[in-house]
Amino acid sequence: MIDQFQRPLHDLRISVTDRCNFRCVYCMPKEVFGKDFAFMERDELLSFEEMTRLARISVAHGVEKIRLTGGEPLLRKGIEELVAMLAELRTPAGRPIDIAMTTNGSVLALKAQALKDAGLKRVTVSLDSLDDATFRAMNDVKFPVSKVLNSLDVAHSAGLGPIKINMVLKRGQNDQDIVAMARHFKGTPYILRFIEFMDVGSSNGWEMADVVPSGEVVARINAELPLEEVAPNYNGETSRRWRYRDGEGEIGVISSVTQSFCHSCSRARVSTDGKLFTCLFATEGHDLRALMRGGSTDEQLAAVMTQIWRERTDRYSELRSAETGRLRASAKKRIEMSYIGG
Ligand code: GTP
Ligand code: 5AD
Ligand code: SF4
Ligand code: SF4
Repeated sequence: MIDQFQRPLHDLRISVTDRCNFRCVYCMPKEVFGKDFAFMERDELLSFEEMTRLARISVAHGVEKIRLTGGEPLLRKGIEELVAMLAELRTPAGRPIDIAMTTNGSVLALKAQALKDAGLKRVTVSLDSLDDATFRAMNDVKFPVSKVLNSLDVAHSAGLGPIKINMVLKRGQNDQDIVAMARHFKGTPYILRFIEFMDVGSSNGWEMADVVPSGEVVARINAELPLEEVAPNYNGETSRRWRYRDGEGEIGVISSVTQSFCHSCSRARVSTDGKLFTCLFATEGHDLRALMRGGSTDEQLAAVMTQIWRERTDRYSELRSAETGRLRASAKKRIEMSYIGG
């Protein structure tokens, strides 16, 4: 199944909750996601059965990788049951699905073994600094960095690797830690990835001046720890890979702002309340929950989903590079990353 730009559907991301115990400045700023913010009610969320049903249909149409996101996915009660349900799915060729999760690591140490036992293959952990004061300021709930580092060890021991570490860079906030992070994770089993702060949603106050371009990141690390570029692991990979010339591992850079990767984007997203989005920057999704709760059959759901993918023309980041001003002007309606998933 391919879209209007010949891109196959390969990757499904499911947001299992819109809640998070962090208030990262680039994602859920406190001023917007405060005490009065209306998160979704329980009956608005897709059930695990509904998620698995959408996953099963997607897998029958080419999806081989499922990523559970949020908000913070580990806040959803019984999440390991969902993992176990997804782990039973098979591609048309009979292969199991690559099931991954993006988490902030705050409660991962407690859940890692249960997730592994349920069939989770690997986790990606967000970590924006090793410096406790900087990290606490960025998550804005004073969460200590030591707990996340402990979660990394526990998840690695439980076999949830290779673990990737996502560091979102915001100029003036944590870019002073780039080389320290690289040094810390060099020669370890963890793959550190530097992410350009994106203009996703409409509440994070994004400005181009806050973005640290990946070219600068690579140059700063390369000056102290020499790097060479390596080929992507697979077509459609979000990150560009660089390895240390001394053989001590690799880093990645995710450059959605300065070097968009829409041309190979094979990701569909299901929001917490069951809307299908074909781009992180979409303003509207298709309400699959209404179809499911209204009694649609699998065939009807499959027909809707395949039609949406075939008609897909999204390439927001590519267009943004050309017309930042105009696109930002329409940002008011945009959905938040905590709702659609990272
Ligand atoms: P792997 O399966 O390990 O290759 O992970 P991944 O890079 O596909 O997923 P991950 O959730 O770790 O993505 C890392 C970050 O890249 C996200 O948190 C976003 O900041 C960004 N990102 C992921 N997918 C997209 C996308 O489709 N568009 C844009 N613009 N950014 C994306
Ligand atoms: N820009 C880039 N990445 C973001 N994330 C959330 N908000 C943003 C943003 N504005 C991603 C980060 C984090 C994951 C949960 O979501 O990669 O690790
Ligand atoms: Fe929560 Fe992740 Fe968003 Fe931070 S980036 S607020 S941890 S969902
Ligand atoms: Fe895919 Fe949209 Fe991101 Fe481009 S901006 S890579 S189309 S999700």
